[in-house]
Amino acid sequence: MSDDFFPVPGTWAQDALFDRAGREADYRRSIEDSHAYWLERAKRLDWIEAPTLTDESSFAEADFGVRWFADGVLNVSANCIDRHLAERRDQTAILWEPDSPDAEARRYSYAQVHEEVCRLANVLKAAGAKKGDRITVYMPMIPEAAFALLACARIGAVHSVVFGGFSPEALCGRIQDCDSTLVITADEGCRAGKKVPLKTNVDAALKDCPGVKTVLVVKATGGDIAMQPGRDLWLHEEAAKVSADCPPEPMNAEDPLFILYTSGSTGKPKGVLHTTGGYLLWASLTHELCFDYRPGDIYWCAADIGWVTGHSYIVYGPLANGATTLMYEGVPNWPTPSRIWDVVDKHQVHTLFTAPTALRALMKEGDEHVTRTSRASLRVLGTVGEPINPEAWRWYHGVVGEGRCPIIDTWWQTETGGAMIAPMPGATDLKPGSATLPMPGVVPQIVDGEGKVLEGAAEGNLVIAQSWPGQMRTVWGDHDRFFQTYFTTFPGKYTTGDGARRDADGYYWITGRVDDVINVSGHRMGTAEVESALVLHEAVAEAAVVGFPHDVKGQGIYAYVTLNSGQEPSDDLRQTLIKWVRTEIGPIATPDAIQFAPGLPKTRSGKIMRRILRKIAEGEVSAQALGDTSTLADPSVVENLVANRVG
Ligand code: WT7
Repeated sequence: MSDDFFPVPGTWAQDALFDRAGREADYRRSIEDSHAYWLERAKRLDWIEAPTLTDESSFAEADFGVRWFADGVLNVSANCIDRHLAERRDQTAILWEPDSPDAEARRYSYAQVHEEVCRLANVLKAAGAKKGDRITVYMPMIPEAAFALLACARIGAVHSVVFGGFSPEALCGRIQDCDSTLVITADEGCRAGKKVPLKTNVDAALKDCPGVKTVLVVKATGGDIAMQPGRDLWLHEEAAKVSADCPPEPMNAEDPLFILYTSGSTGKPKGVLHTTGGYLLWASLTHELCFDYRPGDIYWCAADIGWVTGHSYIVYGPLANGATTLMYEGVPNWPTPSRIWDVVDKHQVHTLFTAPTALRALMKEGDEHVTRTSRASLRVLGTVGEPINPEAWRWYHGVVGEGRCPIIDTWWQTETGGAMIAPMPGATDLKPGSATLPMPGVVPQIVDGEGKVLEGAAEGNLVIAQSWPGQMRTVWGDHDRFFQTYFTTFPGKYTTGDGARRDADGYYWITGRVDDVINVSGHRMGTAEVESALVLHEAVAEAAVVGFPHDVKGQGIYAYVTLNSGQEPSDDLRQTLIKWVRTEIGPIATPDAIQFAPGLPKTRSGKIMRRILRKIAEGEVSAQALGDTSTLADPSVVENLVANRVG
């Protein structure tokens, strides 16, 4: 081992699902004997018709397509619920911790989840929903959100979850893009003691979505909301009218399961489509291997169901594995910076899976908020969403886990369905800041700018050379965009958009995005999206947005704004624009800095030189840092930008 590392503790190496040699042998088999390997792995799911086919994908333009287990038939909700009933009827499937520590936690056994999901599925059917229809889910972190996903899967409808923090405008765009006819929401959400007006947002969004015929509303807070007769239905009223049994719809392995919108470097958010068999297999297998999941473990992924992490690691992976999955309504640091650790103690959590941004925020509050709690139940600590800085890694490992718990840094993307590069607790020596090694069947490569594959220790673009079961299948409604976005930069390979370094031990270190995507608190944001929102404002002529290092969020949003003539820069206008972006996209897109710029650095052909804007935002303003500015149409704009830097 070249770098500073943490070997697998002896106890782990003996008891884990895989030790190091076991992981290596399994990986080798997944590559060398792929067909037999995946047929065997597929047996972890319950198939109505078992597949005889495995990978039939091609990344080449001529026969492009991603396809796995294409003759298999199964139902995802039956795999996540029904098949566990014989053994785990009364085991808690979903353990819900509310926002307020004074409110009662709720537990749903597998039998209860079965009933809730069947009733909701029958309500969806009664409202006319059928296999293949798209249903938008805009929910707070309450158990009904998980029921909604599973009910869609049960009847073969395609869910599209929109994060509850997105604005009515963002919600509307996502409903329109996939032509949803039904929306499932709640009266209000509850986060850090504040109410989130979900139903009111839906009402605003639906002004421009005539295709939506039904809105199902969960009574969550009991807040006062408007119900539109003929369109809006209370879920609890409708659920009482239908049967508690709903047979699961047989689905082909390649039938769509869900759409999830994510930001790219250009244009509007893409609807990432995942299908039934390969996705569920990937979520379930990676959940087991990354966390060394054992029956009886209390498992907590502290993400939101609005992101892929919530889909794969709150709902589908753990439930497919018969786990007890903890769902938390609130935020990590409310009402006190001890809340996460209090919840760990209260529910005796074995596995905690969270994001570096949450760790950094809690770290700042001081160790005493952690050390006053026990945390003795913790066995495994996971992280996801962005590169974890070694300092936060060491704090998580040393202070939170008291050196006992392996840190499972999982690198993956909405597009990959589940973890791609990650340690396994008993098998992988750890290095702070490295996501370590590929999961079964994953073939990462580092390529240079020309696509040349670099061997050994190297740094460059991270690509994946062949398909894996959890890979996205298309961009909803735009298959060509799927091909163009991911398979043309380095033909024949899946382009991740991330940079990475591989060290002499073969460990991968993700260095961050190489495109115009920024990562704010583990949330992916296209700079183009924020720019589009800004230029919609009447005062703005042009905008350029870049990321800059932020000690809690990982990256912050820095916007350069050129005003229309006649508009004067002012602090008021700055605040107005910040609010404007929040309203257009949502609070996660709030700019951290807005710099009024009379001109932007452009090449003679009119292309904005973002490299320079990034450097200035980072505070690197020496001539050396800014590099060659001679190709700019007007080099003097740079001086102005440097002189008026914000921050
Ligand atoms: C991008 C994907 C993965 C689910 C949540 C985010 C960054 C994610 C890591 C990690 C370094 C990471 C990458 C990736 N990222 N996990 N462990 N180490 N970077 O999903 O919104 O699709 O974003 O998040 O840049 O491309 P997403």
